[in-house]
Amino acid sequence: MKPITQTLTELTAAAFAQCGYDPALGVVGLSDRLDLCQFQCNGAFAAAKQYHKAPFVIAGEVAAVLAENLIFAEVQAVRPGFLNLTVTDVFLAEAAKTQMADPHLGIHQADFPETIIIDYGGPNVAKPLHIGHLRSAIIGEALKRLARAVGHRVLGDVHLGDWGLQIGLVIAELSERYPDWRCFAPDFDPETETVSALSAADLNEIYPFASKRSKEDAAFKEKAHLATCELQSGRPGYIALWKEILRVSVADMKGNYQKLGVDFDLWYGESDADRYVEPLMALLDEKELLRRSEGALVVDVAEEGDKAPMPPVIVRKSDNSSIYATTDLATIMQRQQDFSPNRIWYVVDKRQELHFTQVFRCARKAGLIADHAELAYLGFGTMNGSDGKPYKTRDGGVMRLADLIAAVEEAAGEKLAGSAFVSEPERQETARKVGVAALKFGDLINQRGKDYIFDLERFLSFEGKTGTYLLYTVTRINSILQKAGGGACQLFGIYNDADRELWLNLLLTGAVFERAFEEKAPNNLCENAYQLAALFSRFYHDNHILAEEDEKKRESWLALCRMVKKVLEKHLDVLGIETVERM
Ligand code: ARG
Repeated sequence: MKPITQTLTELTAAAFAQCGYDPALGVVGLSDRLDLCQFQCNGAFAAAKQYHKAPFVIAGEVAAVLAENLIFAEVQAVRPGFLNLTVTDVFLAEAAKTQMADPHLGIHQADFPETIIIDYGGPNVAKPLHIGHLRSAIIGEALKRLARAVGHRVLGDVHLGDWGLQIGLVIAELSERYPDWRCFAPDFDPETETVSALSAADLNEIYPFASKRSKEDAAFKEKAHLATCELQSGRPGYIALWKEILRVSVADMKGNYQKLGVDFDLWYGESDADRYVEPLMALLDEKELLRRSEGALVVDVAEEGDKAPMPPVIVRKSDNSSIYATTDLATIMQRQQDFSPNRIWYVVDKRQELHFTQVFRCARKAGLIADHAELAYLGFGTMNGSDGKPYKTRDGGVMRLADLIAAVEEAAGEKLAGSAFVSEPERQETARKVGVAALKFGDLINQRGKDYIFDLERFLSFEGKTGTYLLYTVTRINSILQKAGGGACQLFGIYNDADRELWLNLLLTGAVFERAFEEKAPNNLCENAYQLAALFSRFYHDNHILAEEDEKKRESWLALCRMVKKVLEKHLDVLGIETVERM
């Protein structure tokens, strides 16, 4: 289904053309003064410059043409040159019926579906997930669902950090604690021998311990480095142990991501790109992009016009090991080979901007991906505590994601404790959903690049732009629909300002989704979901839906309630937020 603003734009463009002006001037948007008109076009101002005429004259000419069209209840040229449009309720109701019948709820599906890979999550194996991983997971998941909602083929890749020093640290530490383990013996045979099972609790204790130790103990640090190198060159006992670490760590991560309603199509890691490193180096060499610098191999990526220094990207260190940039480049090669994506989006902390600029430039120079394909770095800001500094635990440590989720769930549980609507067996599950909704919405409503303050009290409030308010609105509609007792829900007409405004908002759903996708900005959906809920609250307050005696009116309003629920749920689903039946 076409967004209503597009239908109106096409009509207005034709009217501009009929009056002898450029049709591109006929862009129509929702009016920002709904008390004056529903839609508006400001094209006459640009036309005035182009055709050297007063904007009001041009608006008047176009208005005269549009006024012939019966879909308009009112067409007005207003000084100095606005074109104000209001459609008839009959037209609005017809559009509403089309939207009600559309399985996509008025969200236009891409004419040319693209393959988009979204690289988000980025957790590191052996290290517990902490709140630094929260935003990537939440934003990436929403972008993935958003791109799918507008009809693209999207793959979410967790891109595990599974090949670096953190594994070497754990191996080195384990080898000192359990020197007798067969996996540490040079003659370990993976065909016939297995490694001892580890647990998530083991890893959660060992990694921080080993990491701290390496900062104080140079010999240990060296040992961990060596272990990393040996792992990367395939020492069988280390590979077997690495697989066990991976198994335990990934299972633990999956549990946490699942609680957040985040899931990935691809559980690839940096290690999966390893086999592309040699072909990558050969290609860079062939294209004469490699330069030796202090024993390392680098690629120059500075460009004319760079305002900040742009160091060359190091692709191989002097000790022959490859690093972060190498892995990302090799991964682009792998993705190109496996999926030929139209776009790759990276949802990573904004502090990594330089890294991605270097990687993208190098990838372009080497032609690792089609020229028309998009490589986009979507950096995000930090979640801060009330002191404006990165959120910490009470004792100043980094907060584990699992602990944060538990705290949010608990607070939501307390908030719901008084609710008579939630039965005891469903209380915990409801608290989980409400807590996660509060957390996710509180994050997603912010512009991605900005820092924000984690304020649980506010996030859980039943009022304002919160996940809690939105879930609550859905439950209110559930209760109305339940009391009405199902049955047909036909739309017969539009009856007053409140239902008209709601339908206008609903009919813009497609345009909102399109804009959110184009801007890669889920916060557009948050704002719109809030608008919709607020309009619904007003409608609900002003009209006694269930007590309405006019049968047709009552039924039309129930149809409206159903549609608000569906569209609100669609917004929430794309934001990765689950709803609750009652609360
Ligand atoms: N594991 C990385 C880190 O902890 C994040 C990975 C981001 N994705 C990427 N393709 N580099 O910093």
